[in-house]
Amino acid sequence: MHARGAKPTDCGLRIADCGLKRTRTANPQSAIRNPQFTALLEEVYAAERLELADIEAVLRTEGPEELQALFDFAEAVRRQFVGDGVLLRGIIEFSNVCRNTCLYCGLNRGNRRLQRYRLTREQILASAETIRAAGIKTVVLQSGEEDDLDADWLREIIEQIKSSLDLAVTLCVGERSRAEYQLWRAAGADRYLLKIETSDADLYEQLHPGMSFANRRRCLQDLAELGYQTGSGDLVGLRGQTVTHLARDIQFFKEGNFDMISVGPFIPHPETLLAKEPAGDLRMTLKMTALARIVSRNAHIPATTAIGSLHGRDERPRALAAGANVLMPNFTPAPYRRHYEIYPNKRCISENTAACPACMEQMVAGIGRWVDYSRGDSRKRSLKSHV
Ligand code: SAM
Ligand code: FES
Repeated sequence: MHARGAKPTDCGLRIADCGLKRTRTANPQSAIRNPQFTALLEEVYAAERLELADIEAVLRTEGPEELQALFDFAEAVRRQFVGDGVLLRGIIEFSNVCRNTCLYCGLNRGNRRLQRYRLTREQILASAETIRAAGIKTVVLQSGEEDDLDADWLREIIEQIKSSLDLAVTLCVGERSRAEYQLWRAAGADRYLLKIETSDADLYEQLHPGMSFANRRRCLQDLAELGYQTGSGDLVGLRGQTVTHLARDIQFFKEGNFDMISVGPFIPHPETLLAKEPAGDLRMTLKMTALARIVSRNAHIPATTAIGSLHGRDERPRALAAGANVLMPNFTPAPYRRHYEIYPNKRCISENTAACPACMEQMVAGIGRWVDYSRGDSRKRSLKSHV
Protein backbone atom coordinates (compact mmCIF):
# COMPACT_ATOMS: atom_id res chain seq x y z
CA MET A 1 0.00 0.00 0.00
CA HIS A 2 1.09 3.54 -0.56
CA ALA A 3 2.10 5.77 2.30
CA ARG A 4 -0.98 7.76 3.19
CA GLY A 5 -1.08 11.19 1.56
CA ALA A 6 2.37 10.80 0.00
CA LYS A 7 1.33 9.68 -3.45
CA PRO A 8 0.77 12.33 -6.13
CA THR A 9 -2.74 12.35 -7.65
CA ASP A 10 -3.25 12.48 -11.45
CA CYS A 11 -3.66 16.24 -11.28
CA GLY A 12 -0.14 16.41 -9.90
CA LEU A 13 -1.18 17.33 -6.37
CA ARG A 14 -0.50 15.41 -3.23
CA ILE A 15 -3.67 14.46 -1.45
CA ALA A 16 -2.70 16.54 1.51
CA ASP A 17 -2.43 19.60 -0.77
CA CYS A 18 -5.46 19.20 -2.98
CA GLY A 19 -8.98 20.59 -2.77
CA LEU A 20 -10.23 17.26 -1.46
CA LYS A 21 -8.69 17.92 1.89
CA ARG A 22 -10.29 21.30 2.05
CA THR A 23 -13.68 19.94 1.02
CA ARG A 24 -13.59 17.18 3.58
CA THR A 25 -12.78 19.51 6.37
CA ALA A 26 -15.85 21.47 5.26
CA ASN A 27 -17.73 18.60 6.91
CA PRO A 28 -15.75 18.11 10.10
CA GLN A 29 -18.46 15.98 11.73
CA SER A 30 -17.86 13.01 9.48
CA ALA A 31 -14.12 13.51 9.13
CA ILE A 32 -13.24 13.95 12.78
CA ARG A 33 -15.48 11.47 14.55
CA ASN A 34 -14.10 8.53 12.67
CA PRO A 35 -10.60 9.42 11.50
CA GLN A 36 -9.85 5.77 10.76
CA PHE A 37 -12.64 5.60 8.22
CA THR A 38 -11.49 8.86 6.62
CA ALA A 39 -7.97 7.43 6.43
CA LEU A 40 -9.38 4.32 4.76
CA LEU A 41 -11.10 6.46 2.12
CA GLU A 42 -7.88 8.34 1.49
CA GLU A 43 -6.09 5.03 1.11
CA VAL A 44 -8.61 3.86 -1.48
CA TYR A 45 -8.44 7.18 -3.30
CA ALA A 46 -4.64 7.18 -3.46
CA ALA A 47 -4.06 3.52 -4.29
CA GLU A 48 -2.98 2.61 -7.78
CA ARG A 49 -3.65 -1.06 -7.05
CA LEU A 50 -6.71 -1.34 -4.87
CA GLU A 51 -6.64 -3.66 -1.89
CA LEU A 52 -9.73 -5.86 -1.96
CA ALA A 53 -9.99 -5.76 1.84
CA ASP A 54 -10.11 -1.94 1.81
CA ILE A 55 -12.95 -1.86 -0.71
CA GLU A 56 -14.85 -4.55 1.16
CA ALA A 57 -14.45 -2.61 4.40
CA VAL A 58 -16.01 0.45 2.79
CA LEU A 59 -18.85 -1.60 1.29
CA ARG A 60 -19.61 -3.22 4.67
CA THR A 61 -19.85 0.13 6.39
CA GLU A 62 -23.28 0.85 7.83
CA GLY A 63 -22.74 3.68 10.35
CA PRO A 64 -24.60 6.85 9.32
CA GLU A 65 -21.59 9.06 9.96
CA GLU A 66 -19.28 6.83 7.97
CA LEU A 67 -21.77 6.65 5.11
CA GLN A 68 -22.04 10.42 5.08
CA ALA A 69 -18.23 10.64 5.09
CA LEU A 70 -18.12 8.27 2.10
CA PHE A 71 -20.67 10.29 0.12
CA ASP A 72 -18.96 13.57 1.07
CA PHE A 73 -15.63 12.19 -0.09
CA ALA A 74 -17.14 11.04 -3.41
CA GLU A 75 -18.72 14.46 -3.82
CA ALA A 76 -15.40 16.19 -3.21
CA VAL A 77 -13.77 14.01 -5.87
CA ARG A 78 -16.67 14.63 -8.24
CA ARG A 79 -16.50 18.38 -7.72
CA GLN A 80 -12.77 18.47 -8.27
CA PHE A 81 -12.62 16.25 -11.35
CA VAL A 82 -15.90 16.80 -13.21
CA GLY A 83 -17.43 19.87 -11.55
CA ASP A 84 -20.97 20.67 -10.50
CA GLY A 85 -22.68 20.42 -13.89
CA VAL A 86 -24.97 17.46 -14.53
CA LEU A 87 -24.71 16.18 -18.10
CA LEU A 88 -27.80 15.02 -19.99
CA ARG A 89 -27.81 12.11 -22.43
CA GLY A 90 -31.01 11.58 -24.41
CA ILE A 91 -31.73 7.87 -24.76
CA ILE A 92 -33.68 6.23 -27.58
CA GLU A 93 -34.52 2.58 -26.94
CA PHE A 94 -34.89 1.68 -30.58
CA SER A 95 -35.60 -2.05 -30.31
CA ASN A 96 -36.55 -4.49 -27.56
CA VAL A 97 -35.83 -7.57 -29.68
CA CYS A 98 -33.17 -9.75 -28.07
CA ARG A 99 -31.49 -13.08 -28.76
CA ASN A 100 -30.22 -13.50 -25.19
CA THR A 101 -31.70 -15.12 -22.12
CA CYS A 102 -30.12 -13.02 -19.35
CA LEU A 103 -31.73 -14.31 -16.16
CA TYR A 104 -32.57 -10.87 -14.77
CA CYS A 105 -33.72 -9.00 -17.86
CA GLY A 106 -37.31 -8.47 -18.96
CA LEU A 107 -36.24 -8.31 -22.62
CA ASN A 108 -34.91 -11.89 -22.51
CA ARG A 109 -36.09 -13.82 -25.55
CA GLY A 110 -38.12 -16.25 -23.42
CA ASN A 111 -40.50 -13.46 -22.36
CA ARG A 112 -43.41 -14.21 -24.67
CA ARG A 113 -45.66 -11.63 -23.05
CA LEU A 114 -43.57 -8.72 -24.22
CA GLN A 115 -44.75 -6.97 -27.36
CA ARG A 116 -41.61 -6.62 -29.45
CA TYR A 117 -40.86 -3.55 -31.57
CA ARG A 118 -38.14 -1.97 -33.61
CA LEU A 119 -38.35 1.73 -34.48
CA THR A 120 -37.98 2.79 -38.09
CA ARG A 121 -35.10 4.95 -39.22
CA GLU A 122 -37.54 7.88 -39.50
CA GLN A 123 -38.77 7.39 -35.94
CA ILE A 124 -35.21 7.25 -34.61
CA LEU A 125 -34.19 10.38 -36.51
CA ALA A 126 -37.32 12.23 -35.34
CA SER A 127 -36.51 11.34 -31.70
CA ALA A 128 -32.90 12.43 -32.22
CA GLU A 129 -34.20 15.76 -33.53
CA THR A 130 -36.28 16.15 -30.38
CA ILE A 131 -33.14 15.58 -28.33
CA ARG A 132 -31.30 18.23 -30.33
CA ALA A 133 -34.23 20.65 -29.98
CA ALA A 134 -34.10 20.18 -26.20
CA GLY A 135 -30.49 21.42 -26.30
CA ILE A 136 -29.03 18.01 -25.39
CA LYS A 137 -25.83 17.10 -27.28
CA THR A 138 -25.68 13.32 -26.83
CA VAL A 139 -27.98 10.64 -28.16
CA VAL A 140 -27.74 7.12 -26.74
CA LEU A 141 -29.02 4.46 -29.12
CA GLN A 142 -29.89 1.42 -27.04
CA SER A 143 -31.50 -1.90 -27.90
CA GLY A 144 -31.68 -5.54 -26.98
CA GLU A 145 -29.11 -7.73 -28.67
CA GLU A 146 -30.77 -8.44 -31.97
CA ASP A 147 -29.68 -11.30 -34.21
CA ASP A 148 -31.19 -9.47 -37.16
CA LEU A 149 -29.70 -6.07 -36.47
CA ASP A 150 -28.55 -4.82 -39.86
CA ALA A 151 -25.18 -3.19 -39.25
CA ASP A 152 -25.51 -1.04 -42.40
CA TRP A 153 -28.93 0.19 -41.35
CA LEU A 154 -27.48 1.38 -38.03
CA ARG A 155 -24.44 2.84 -39.81
CA GLU A 156 -26.68 4.99 -42.01
CA ILE A 157 -28.60 6.23 -38.99
CA ILE A 158 -25.36 7.16 -37.21
CA GLU A 159 -24.11 8.98 -40.32
CA GLN A 160 -27.35 10.88 -40.66
CA ILE A 161 -27.40 11.92 -36.99
CA LYS A 162 -23.78 13.07 -37.24
CA SER A 163 -24.24 15.02 -40.46
CA SER A 164 -27.59 16.65 -39.83
CA LEU A 165 -27.77 17.00 -36.03
CA ASP A 166 -24.13 17.02 -34.93
CA LEU A 167 -24.85 15.05 -31.76
CA ALA A 168 -22.39 12.86 -29.91
CA VAL A 169 -23.56 9.30 -30.55
CA THR A 170 -23.36 6.63 -27.86
CA LEU A 171 -24.23 3.07 -28.80
CA CYS A 172 -25.49 0.42 -26.38
CA VAL A 173 -26.44 -2.56 -28.49
CA GLY A 174 -24.52 -5.34 -26.75
CA GLU A 175 -21.92 -7.82 -27.91
CA ARG A 176 -21.17 -7.52 -31.62
CA SER A 177 -18.23 -8.38 -33.88
CA ARG A 178 -15.18 -6.15 -34.06
CA ALA A 179 -16.02 -5.47 -37.71
CA GLU A 180 -19.42 -4.07 -36.73
CA TYR A 181 -17.91 -1.93 -33.98
CA GLN A 182 -15.39 -0.66 -36.54
CA LEU A 183 -18.09 0.11 -39.11
CA TRP A 184 -20.09 2.18 -36.62
CA ARG A 185 -17.01 3.93 -35.29
CA ALA A 186 -16.02 4.91 -38.84
CA ALA A 187 -19.57 6.23 -39.33
CA GLY A 188 -18.99 8.61 -36.43
CA ALA A 189 -20.17 6.79 -33.28
CA ASP A 190 -18.28 8.34 -30.38
CA ARG A 191 -19.03 6.18 -27.37
CA TYR A 192 -20.18 2.70 -26.40
CA LEU A 193 -21.75 1.37 -23.23
CA LEU A 194 -21.32 -2.30 -22.37
CA LYS A 195 -21.83 -3.15 -18.74
CA ILE A 196 -19.92 -6.10 -17.41
CA GLU A 197 -22.87 -6.63 -14.98
CA THR A 198 -20.52 -8.59 -12.70
CA SER A 199 -16.77 -9.01 -12.96
CA ASP A 200 -16.95 -12.56 -11.63
CA ALA A 201 -16.67 -14.89 -14.63
CA ASP A 202 -18.56 -17.79 -13.01
CA LEU A 203 -21.41 -15.61 -11.80
CA TYR A 204 -21.49 -13.83 -15.14
CA GLU A 205 -21.87 -17.11 -17.00
CA GLN A 206 -24.57 -18.40 -14.61
CA LEU A 207 -26.63 -15.27 -15.21
CA HIS A 208 -26.05 -15.11 -18.97
CA PRO A 209 -26.66 -18.59 -20.43
CA GLY A 210 -24.71 -19.20 -23.61
CA MET A 211 -22.59 -16.08 -23.16
CA SER A 212 -18.98 -15.92 -22.04
CA PHE A 213 -17.18 -13.50 -19.81
CA ALA A 214 -14.16 -13.74 -22.12
CA ASN A 215 -16.25 -12.44 -25.02
CA ARG A 216 -17.55 -9.57 -22.89
CA ARG A 217 -13.96 -8.57 -22.17
CA ARG A 218 -13.05 -9.00 -25.82
CA CYS A 219 -15.81 -6.58 -26.76
CA LEU A 220 -14.62 -3.98 -24.25
CA GLN A 221 -11.05 -4.37 -25.50
CA ASP A 222 -12.13 -3.99 -29.15
CA LEU A 223 -14.18 -0.90 -28.35
CA ALA A 224 -11.27 0.77 -26.56
CA GLU A 225 -8.82 -0.10 -29.33
CA LEU A 226 -11.19 1.35 -31.92
CA GLY A 227 -11.16 4.64 -30.06
CA TYR A 228 -14.65 4.60 -28.56
CA GLN A 229 -15.12 6.37 -25.26
CA THR A 230 -16.06 3.23 -23.44
CA GLY A 231 -18.41 2.69 -20.54
CA SER A 232 -18.94 -0.31 -18.34
CA GLY A 233 -20.75 -0.97 -15.11
CA ASP A 234 -22.50 -3.50 -12.94
CA LEU A 235 -25.77 -4.51 -11.33
CA VAL A 236 -26.07 -4.58 -7.56
CA GLY A 237 -28.07 -7.33 -5.87
CA LEU A 238 -27.81 -10.12 -8.41
CA ARG A 239 -28.56 -13.62 -7.13
CA GLY A 240 -25.34 -15.17 -5.87
CA GLN A 241 -23.47 -11.87 -5.73
CA THR A 242 -21.41 -11.18 -2.60
CA VAL A 243 -19.73 -8.09 -1.20
CA THR A 244 -16.44 -9.55 -2.42
CA HIS A 245 -17.82 -9.72 -5.96
CA LEU A 246 -18.85 -6.07 -5.72
CA ALA A 247 -15.42 -5.11 -4.38
CA ARG A 248 -13.86 -6.89 -7.37
CA ASP A 249 -16.17 -4.91 -9.67
CA ILE A 250 -14.65 -1.74 -8.22
CA GLN A 251 -11.17 -3.13 -8.89
CA PHE A 252 -12.29 -3.96 -12.44
CA PHE A 253 -13.49 -0.37 -12.96
CA LYS A 254 -10.23 1.02 -11.64
CA GLU A 255 -8.08 -1.26 -13.78
CA GLY A 256 -10.22 -0.61 -16.86
CA ASN A 257 -9.92 3.18 -16.51
CA PHE A 258 -13.32 3.47 -18.16
CA ASP A 259 -14.62 6.74 -19.53
CA MET A 260 -18.07 6.00 -18.10
CA ILE A 261 -19.26 3.75 -15.27
CA SER A 262 -22.88 2.86 -14.60
CA VAL A 263 -24.07 1.24 -11.36
CA GLY A 264 -27.70 0.19 -11.02
CA PRO A 265 -29.71 -1.97 -8.63
CA PHE A 266 -31.16 -5.23 -9.89
CA ILE A 267 -34.98 -4.96 -10.02
CA PRO A 268 -36.85 -8.27 -10.35
CA HIS A 269 -39.03 -8.69 -13.42
CA PRO A 270 -41.99 -11.09 -13.16
CA GLU A 271 -41.27 -12.72 -16.54
CA THR A 272 -37.74 -13.80 -15.64
CA LEU A 273 -36.17 -16.64 -13.71
CA LEU A 274 -35.20 -14.16 -10.98
CA ALA A 275 -38.78 -12.95 -10.50
CA LYS A 276 -38.88 -13.96 -6.84
CA GLU A 277 -35.47 -12.59 -5.89
CA PRO A 278 -35.23 -9.47 -3.73
CA ALA A 279 -34.28 -6.22 -5.44
CA GLY A 280 -30.79 -4.80 -5.06
CA ASP A 281 -30.20 -2.64 -2.01
CA LEU A 282 -30.34 1.12 -2.57
CA ARG A 283 -27.71 1.89 0.05
CA MET A 284 -25.28 -0.63 -1.45
CA THR A 285 -25.92 0.88 -4.89
CA LEU A 286 -25.09 4.34 -3.54
CA LYS A 287 -21.93 3.02 -1.88
CA MET A 288 -20.88 1.46 -5.19
CA THR A 289 -21.61 4.73 -7.00
CA ALA A 290 -19.49 6.63 -4.49
CA LEU A 291 -16.62 4.14 -4.76
CA ALA A 292 -16.80 4.21 -8.56
CA ARG A 293 -16.34 7.97 -8.33
CA ILE A 294 -13.50 7.79 -5.81
CA VAL A 295 -11.47 5.23 -7.75
CA SER A 296 -12.18 6.57 -11.24
CA ARG A 297 -12.06 10.26 -10.35
CA ASN A 298 -13.16 11.72 -13.68
CA ALA A 299 -15.37 9.05 -15.27
CA HIS A 300 -18.88 10.11 -16.23
CA ILE A 301 -21.25 8.32 -13.86
CA PRO A 302 -25.04 8.38 -14.28
CA ALA A 303 -27.66 8.51 -11.57
CA THR A 304 -29.29 5.52 -13.24
CA THR A 305 -32.97 5.27 -14.10
CA ALA A 306 -33.03 2.00 -12.13
CA ILE A 307 -32.05 3.97 -9.00
CA GLY A 308 -34.95 6.29 -9.82
CA SER A 309 -37.34 3.36 -10.23
CA LEU A 310 -36.32 0.99 -7.42
CA HIS A 311 -38.89 1.72 -4.72
CA GLY A 312 -41.33 3.86 -6.66
CA ARG A 313 -39.53 6.94 -5.34
CA ASP A 314 -37.09 8.89 -7.41
CA GLU A 315 -33.81 8.40 -5.58
CA ARG A 316 -31.62 9.76 -8.38
CA PRO A 317 -30.84 12.94 -6.38
CA ARG A 318 -29.20 10.69 -3.78
CA ALA A 319 -26.96 9.18 -6.45
CA LEU A 320 -26.11 12.70 -7.65
CA ALA A 321 -25.14 13.46 -4.05
CA ALA A 322 -22.92 10.37 -3.95
CA GLY A 323 -20.66 11.13 -6.90
CA ALA A 324 -22.87 10.82 -10.01
CA ASN A 325 -22.84 13.56 -12.69
CA VAL A 326 -25.10 12.34 -15.52
CA LEU A 327 -28.84 11.90 -16.10
CA MET A 328 -30.37 10.05 -19.03
CA PRO A 329 -33.80 11.39 -20.00
CA ASN A 330 -35.85 9.02 -22.13
CA PHE A 331 -36.71 10.07 -25.70
CA THR A 332 -38.15 6.78 -26.89
CA PRO A 333 -41.49 7.65 -28.53
CA ALA A 334 -44.16 7.31 -25.84
CA PRO A 335 -46.13 4.39 -27.32
CA TYR A 336 -43.03 2.18 -27.26
CA ARG A 337 -41.55 3.12 -23.91
CA ARG A 338 -43.67 0.73 -21.91
CA HIS A 339 -42.47 -2.15 -24.09
CA TYR A 340 -38.82 -1.54 -23.25
CA GLU A 341 -39.51 -3.14 -19.93
CA ILE A 342 -36.18 -4.41 -18.66
CA TYR A 343 -37.70 -4.23 -15.17
CA PRO A 344 -41.19 -3.24 -13.99
CA ASN A 345 -42.33 0.25 -12.94
CA LYS A 346 -39.57 1.93 -14.87
CA ARG A 347 -39.55 5.65 -14.25
CA CYS A 348 -40.66 8.13 -16.94
CA ILE A 349 -42.48 5.76 -19.24
CA SER A 350 -45.64 7.80 -19.52
CA GLU A 351 -44.46 11.40 -19.42
CA ASN A 352 -44.35 13.30 -22.64
CA THR A 353 -40.82 13.57 -23.90
CA ALA A 354 -40.83 17.34 -24.13
CA ALA A 355 -41.29 17.61 -20.35
CA CYS A 356 -38.15 15.57 -19.51
CA PRO A 357 -35.47 18.28 -19.68
CA ALA A 358 -37.52 20.63 -17.47
CA CYS A 359 -38.04 17.81 -14.98
CA MET A 360 -34.28 17.12 -14.95
CA GLU A 361 -33.51 20.82 -14.51
CA GLN A 362 -35.81 20.95 -11.52
CA MET A 363 -34.25 17.86 -9.95
CA VAL A 364 -30.74 19.18 -10.42
CA ALA A 365 -31.59 22.67 -9.15
CA GLY A 366 -33.13 21.04 -6.07
CA ILE A 367 -29.70 19.81 -5.02
CA GLY A 368 -27.92 23.06 -5.84
CA ARG A 369 -26.40 21.89 -9.13
CA TRP A 370 -26.99 22.92 -12.73
CA VAL A 371 -27.59 21.15 -16.03
CA ASP A 372 -24.56 21.14 -18.28
CA TYR A 373 -25.71 21.17 -21.91
CA SER A 374 -22.28 20.51 -23.39
CA ARG A 375 -21.40 17.24 -25.15
CA GLY A 376 -19.67 15.94 -22.06
CA ASP A 377 -16.93 13.96 -23.74
CA SER A 378 -14.54 11.80 -21.78
CA ARG A 379 -12.27 13.53 -19.30
CA LYS A 380 -9.64 10.84 -19.66
CA ARG A 381 -6.71 12.27 -21.55
CA SER A 382 -5.54 9.22 -23.42
CA LEU A 383 -7.76 6.41 -24.55
CA LYS A 384 -6.19 3.24 -23.42
CA SER A 385 -6.57 -0.47 -22.87
CA HIS A 386 -9.75 -0.96 -20.87
CA VAL A 387 -9.40 -4.52 -19.68
N1 SAM B 1 -28.31 -5.17 -25.02
C1 SAM B 1 -27.52 -4.13 -24.49
C2 SAM B 1 -26.48 -4.66 -23.53
O1 SAM B 1 -26.54 -5.85 -23.21
O2 SAM B 1 -25.60 -3.91 -23.16
C3 SAM B 1 -28.29 -3.02 -23.84
C4 SAM B 1 -29.63 -3.31 -23.28
S1 SAM B 1 -29.66 -3.89 -21.65
C5 SAM B 1 -31.36 -4.05 -21.40
C6 SAM B 1 -29.21 -2.46 -20.71
C7 SAM B 1 -28.96 -2.68 -19.25
O3 SAM B 1 -30.16 -2.97 -18.57
C8 SAM B 1 -28.06 -3.85 -18.88
O4 SAM B 1 -26.72 -3.50 -19.00
C9 SAM B 1 -28.49 -4.17 -17.45
O5 SAM B 1 -27.54 -3.70 -16.52
C10 SAM B 1 -29.81 -3.43 -17.29
N2 SAM B 1 -30.86 -4.34 -16.78
C11 SAM B 1 -31.38 -5.41 -17.40
N3 SAM B 1 -32.28 -6.03 -16.59
C12 SAM B 1 -32.33 -5.35 -15.44
C13 SAM B 1 -33.05 -5.50 -14.22
N4 SAM B 1 -33.89 -6.52 -14.03
N5 SAM B 1 -32.83 -4.61 -13.23
C14 SAM B 1 -31.98 -3.57 -13.42
N6 SAM B 1 -31.28 -3.37 -14.55
C15 SAM B 1 -31.43 -4.25 -15.56
FE1 FES C 1 -31.18 -8.94 -24.02
FE2 FES C 1 -31.66 -7.97 -21.71
S1 FES C 1 -31.67 -10.09 -22.27
S2 FES C 1 -31.27 -6.86 -23.50
